[in-house]
Amino acid sequence: MSRAVVYSKFGGPEVLELREVPEPHAGPGEIRIRVAAAGLNPMDVGLVAMPELAAGFGVTVPAGFGYDLAGVVDEVGEGATGFTAGQRVFGGVMAAAAADYAVVATPAETLWPTPDGVPDEVAATLPVAGLTAAAALAAIDVRPGDTVLIGGAAGGVGVFAVQLARLAGARVIGTASAGTFEFLRGLGAEPVAYGPGLADRVRSLAPTAATDLFGTETASAALSLGIPPSRISTIAAGPNPPGGVHARGGFDAGPAEFKRVVDAVVAGEITVPIAARFPLEQVREAAELQASRHVHGKIVLTM
Ligand SMILES: NC(=O)c1ccc[n+]([C@@H]2O[C@H](COP(=O)([O-])OP(=O)(O)OC[C@H]3O[C@@H](n4cnc5c(N)ncnc54)[C@H](OP(=O)(O)O)[C@@H]3O)[C@@H](O)[C@H]2O)c1
Repeated sequence: MSRAVVYSKFGGPEVLELREVPEPHAGPGEIRIRVAAAGLNPMDVGLVAMPELAAGFGVTVPAGFGYDLAGVVDEVGEGATGFTAGQRVFGGVMAAAAADYAVVATPAETLWPTPDGVPDEVAATLPVAGLTAAAALAAIDVRPGDTVLIGGAAGGVGVFAVQLARLAGARVIGTASAGTFEFLRGLGAEPVAYGPGLADRVRSLAPTAATDLFGTETASAALSLGIPPSRISTIAAGPNPPGGVHARGGFDAGPAEFKRVVDAVVAGEITVPIAARFPLEQVREAAELQASRHVHGKIVLTM
């Protein structure tokens, strides 16, 4: 037997159950990953809570939980391609990461070898948050001399975006609540409070580009300050954000964005703040914290 987090009805974190399940094995064309760590994202709790969102990702109940994972390939089915037994891997596996084992069909486009020196708990934070941050910044072409306004800068995506923008040579202004300012300064951002009046608070700082990682407030402020839509991106405002600004997500990250994030992590130029680690048994507590929308960095489940 092995363990897996499952839910059989939609709802809040209380519907998540850690169950003993028959140990899965790699069939033809599949590999099995012994999962070491699963990184959480708001999307994971969103899928559990919202049947329509889940349906959009092909998820129906009963379902597994979690997307981002890192671990070791421990079975390679006949005819499986691209991976070898014993290889460390990280990536995204829909509704399957929070478990002792994940079985994945090959070729697997969202699974990659874990670089030497990158711990599993860090690798498990990269697929959604790291790639989304890179895609959001690539859309607005951040370059030396820019002052980039980042909305929701202390969240899972924000911690990557702040550091990537700094690495690109930009000055970074990040929105957060007052209690988070010190955390943001530690990442290299100049903090400013989100909420009404944001444009007035940042006007004198003269931002030249912006990415909104929370909704539309930062994008709207940037537009009202005269930043062109081509230099504003959103990741949580739907496919058609107001004002003609870019909508981006992790799936928009190409090989260049992937390399930018992974290389920076390998080189130690990006550190990933782990806000909290939970053993698999405490998946509900982990999901509650993720749902709070006040996480600073990433939450990781450990197996
Ligand atoms: N399109 C995609 O592919 C994609 C990928 C990843 C994420 N997303 C979406 O992007 C959003 C960000 O995700 P995340 O992982 O970074 O986690 P998150 O839970 O949204 O981020 C938490 C951060 O948001 C800040 N925050 C809370 N209320 C805020 C407000 N009213 N305005 C601005 N910031 C606020 C918090 O700061 P304080 O603690 O200081 O309040 C906290 O640091 C989520 O909606 C997520 O679903 C989309």
